[in-house]
Amino acid sequence: MLAPRFYPRFGLTDSLISAARTAQARAYAPYSNFRVGAALESLDGAVFSGCNVENASYGLTICAERAAICAAVSAGVTRFKRAVVVSDVDPPAAPCGACRQVLAEFGLDLPIEGVGSRKTVRWRLSDLLPVAFGPEQLR
Ligand code: THU
Repeated sequence: MLAPRFYPRFGLTDSLISAARTAQARAYAPYSNFRVGAALESLDGAVFSGCNVENASYGLTICAERAAICAAVSAGVTRFKRAVVVSDVDPPAAPCGACRQVLAEFGLDLPIEGVGSRKTVRWRLSDLLPVAFGPEQLR
């Protein structure tokens, strides 16, 4: 695991990346050994994190992003400023298709930062999930 990223120009550590790294350290990934952490920042600055939780019945695995979303929604929070997904690969892991759809439920404008072992990539959810099916289509 890497130390939290330090931005000398600002003298700040990105606390959302730190939260995602802390969650990543708790990943339960005995089958893939691929550890992922995710963190979401709400509009009012609260942070919710999650890690991947695998299962002996492989298909029941929960990704870090969905664990983080469930933590936030369970705390009554559904509006987000940004998300971070950390892994130990470069290029950094991007959210899987299922997680893109679950995140989209709460806003396609979401900026997502993928942080790998050395590299960082920035996306917007609407670019990762074009022509999305969303809640407005059910109204
Ligand atoms: N995984 C995530 O948690 N998030 C992603 O964005 C990609 C994949 C997990 C699922 C599984 O536990 C492991 O990574 C390997 O696929």
